Amino acid sequence: MDIQLAQWSEKLVFGLPMIDSQHKQLYDLAGTFAGNGDQIRVMKTLVMLNNYVKDHFGAEEQMLEALKYPDLAAHKLLHAQFKDLLIKLLDDARQLSLDEIASKVQYLIYGWFSNHILQVDVAYVPWVRSHTPQTQD
Ligand SMILES: [Fe+2]
Ligand SMILES: [Fe+2]
Repeated sequence: MDIQLAQWSEKLVFGLPMIDSQHKQLYDLAGTFAGNGDQIRVMKTLVMLNNYVKDHFGAEEQMLEALKYPDLAAHKLLHAQFKDLLIKLLDDARQLSLDEIASKVQYLIYGWFSNHILQVDVAYVPWVRSHTPQTQD
């Protein structure tokens, strides 16, 4: 998969409010790493990023499970891989400079996560719309 970096923009918005706000929250958090000179705050923010990602993936999987989304197993596997990457960064962070941590977070969120939204999450949107009566607009 070709990884291109993308900041938050309208093209990442699906029109599914819970999912959109959880996605945006991760970009907002990722944006706080650059130019931050406080090691303790960066470590706390990394823990928070891990938790937000875990919560988002859990909510997304629960929604897709409830709607019997056929590609859920493959989707869950990608989530698990990303959670592993974030846990590895958390483990490695003590040996890294703040700039190195910031650039790894950028790669993970603006790179991996953006590509996941644009290439993988996007695939469930028609299924969610057609299987959720209140999202017809
Ligand atoms: Fe996903
Ligand atoms: Fe997602």
